Amino acid sequence: MNDDFYRIKRLPPYVFAEVNKMKAAARASGCDIIDFGMGNPDSAPPAHVIDKMRETLKDPKVHRYSLSRGIQGLRRAQAGYYQKRFGVELDPEAEVVVTIGSKEGLANMAQAISGPGDCFIVPDPCYPIHIWGFVIVGCEVISIPNTPDASFFTHLKQALDTAQRKPVAMIVNFPCNPTSAVVDLSFYEQLVDICKHYGIYILSDLAYCELYYDGKPPPSILQVKGAKDIAVEFTSISKTYSMAGWRIGFCVGNKKLVGALTKIKSYLDYGTFLPVQVAATAAINGPQDYVTNLRAMYKERRDILAEGLEEANWNVPLPDASMFFWAPIPEAYKKIGCLEFSKLLLKHADVAVAPGVGFGPGGEGYVRIALVENKHRIRQAMRNVKQFLQLDPEKQIHELEKA
Ligand SMILES: Cc1ncc(COP(=O)(O)O)c(C=O)c1O
Repeated sequence: MNDDFYRIKRLPPYVFAEVNKMKAAARASGCDIIDFGMGNPDSAPPAHVIDKMRETLKDPKVHRYSLSRGIQGLRRAQAGYYQKRFGVELDPEAEVVVTIGSKEGLANMAQAISGPGDCFIVPDPCYPIHIWGFVIVGCEVISIPNTPDASFFTHLKQALDTAQRKPVAMIVNFPCNPTSAVVDLSFYEQLVDICKHYGIYILSDLAYCELYYDGKPPPSILQVKGAKDIAVEFTSISKTYSMAGWRIGFCVGNKKLVGALTKIKSYLDYGTFLPVQVAATAAINGPQDYVTNLRAMYKERRDILAEGLEEANWNVPLPDASMFFWAPIPEAYKKIGCLEFSKLLLKHADVAVAPGVGFGPGGEGYVRIALVENKHRIRQAMRNVKQFLQLDPEKQIHELEKA
């Protein structure tokens, strides 16, 4: 029997698994772990959306297979959102497809537009499906450092000039998971210019565009004139309405790319459960005060966490957007790396974070802290972290090495 499965073989051991195992063991032994590890929203979705779901469930017609590309009402709602939020016109028939969460959309887009040996450019560190989506389907990935400044374009051009095979597309994600970096429209203008020049597509992941704290809403790449010629964008209701478990996302923009994803999905799935699509339509078309309040809640958590980090003497940049702090490991612990540092935090502070290297080699030296615990628990966590950072680092490292 051949159990040397080609695609599975291409996947390395899951970096987060080690911390998850320790987390589970600590919990089993009665520890109250304060968990900033996974970007899994902890708030309830808008009440009117839940009501819509309940009401829709009663209709006997909604329990059948749905449409893989999404119901028309939901595609229209998403086109309306792009018009209102970004001033971007979209044809809901040809330029919008509903996905089973944006993660599914990204994975199936990778499958739809690639052949074995094709090449894609992915910044490092990144949200894991950005790279693994291409690796799984047998493609080559060229990594460039994920620093959204002038060096990004230098690295990108270098990669394009030296690639043995012309890349098909590249991915960008701002506000970024895990780094929380944001860009302005001029960044996208340059990017579109370069990618048009080299003839490659752009896949933009805008999952965090509604979680911003400096009063400046992050732009869409589709606001760039002519971007639709080469770009699509993925968005999601997971973070905007705290509906991560409902599995609704979107891919919009370039007709060829949207068409390719729509076609491959028609072979693979029947779409998200119809009442979920109806309720998601209500979320997008309904009152948006929920999103304003959610933003305020994350901002409050962010500020409390920032204050706690400062008191603990841990110097970490304040994120302007997303739900993440991207924290450089304190100097004294740099030499053990982010995975071991995460284990120490778990053991001595009862605090779980995501080791940066789980997002790619470029994430070494960092941990990601997600704002998914309430403010009281954030305060508690920061007290624990402060106490931990007052311990003798050499002693902690020595004990870790002995274990
Ligand atoms: C950058 C980014 N893109 C996409 C996703 C996936 O979102 P969805 O729930 O829509 O699949 C996430 C989830 O954490 C994310 O961080």
